[in-house]
Amino acid sequence: MIITENIKMADVILQNHHLLAVINRFGIELGFGDKSVKEICSDYQLNTDFFLEIINAFNDPDFYPQHNLEKFPLKLIIDFLRKAHSFYLEQKIPEIATMIEQLVKVSPESQQKTMQMIQRFFKEYQQNLKEHITREEIVVYPYILKLEEYLQSPSKSKESYTELIRYQIENYADEHDSIEDSLQELKTIIIKYLPPQEDYFLCYKILGQLDHLAEDMNNHTEMENKVLVPRVQIMEQILKGLERK
Ligand SMILES: [Fe+2]
Ligand SMILES: [Fe+2]
Repeated sequence: MIITENIKMADVILQNHHLLAVINRFGIELGFGDKSVKEICSDYQLNTDFFLEIINAFNDPDFYPQHNLEKFPLKLIIDFLRKAHSFYLEQKIPEIATMIEQLVKVSPESQQKTMQMIQRFFKEYQQNLKEHITREEIVVYPYILKLEEYLQSPSKSKESYTELIRYQIENYADEHDSIEDSLQELKTIIIKYLPPQEDYFLCYKILGQLDHLAEDMNNHTEMENKVLVPRVQIMEQILKGLERK
């Protein structure tokens, strides 16, 4: 289903409740009544076109807004990506960590070795994700915003130029592979090696949460790799061109 501006927001969420996590990043809260997507966007002063591109990308993996997102300012996209980071680090990861801890606690002595291995693996993943996100927030995103601002400003300072030319986006996209792989590995370890549990429902919930996280992060990473990186590469070419003049 393609979500359009006249569809009721309640219907959007009814057909895919995972989208609640996405609309939350726009600051939208429950209580839509019969309001349409367009009305809700106007209530929250959001760019409806941008909202639709994002919500459709998360709703349907075949709908990829790569080209449509080209028209939006990078600041809008980066603001959205930053909100996803808070969702991962402040909500999703602590939620999963608590459930894994709970599972370790209720497991018998004989299973402790395996359980601790799973917990250790999750902690490592958590650490890698945190480092990756911190680097994006402290180095990559500010660089992108600065580059865009520099190219748009009429007075181009030599200091900014020297600072910008030193960095290149080139290898950034590859960093995502290891983060995605280790989440996949964590799921595999749980499915393959987790000993039979009394609380089957808790295991089921953990796997469900990991799946949701993986799916959400796939979309997030696609946006970074397929929308941000190509735009930055074009800007870097322009920057290099300025040097030759
Ligand atoms: Fe990110
Ligand atoms: Fe990333």
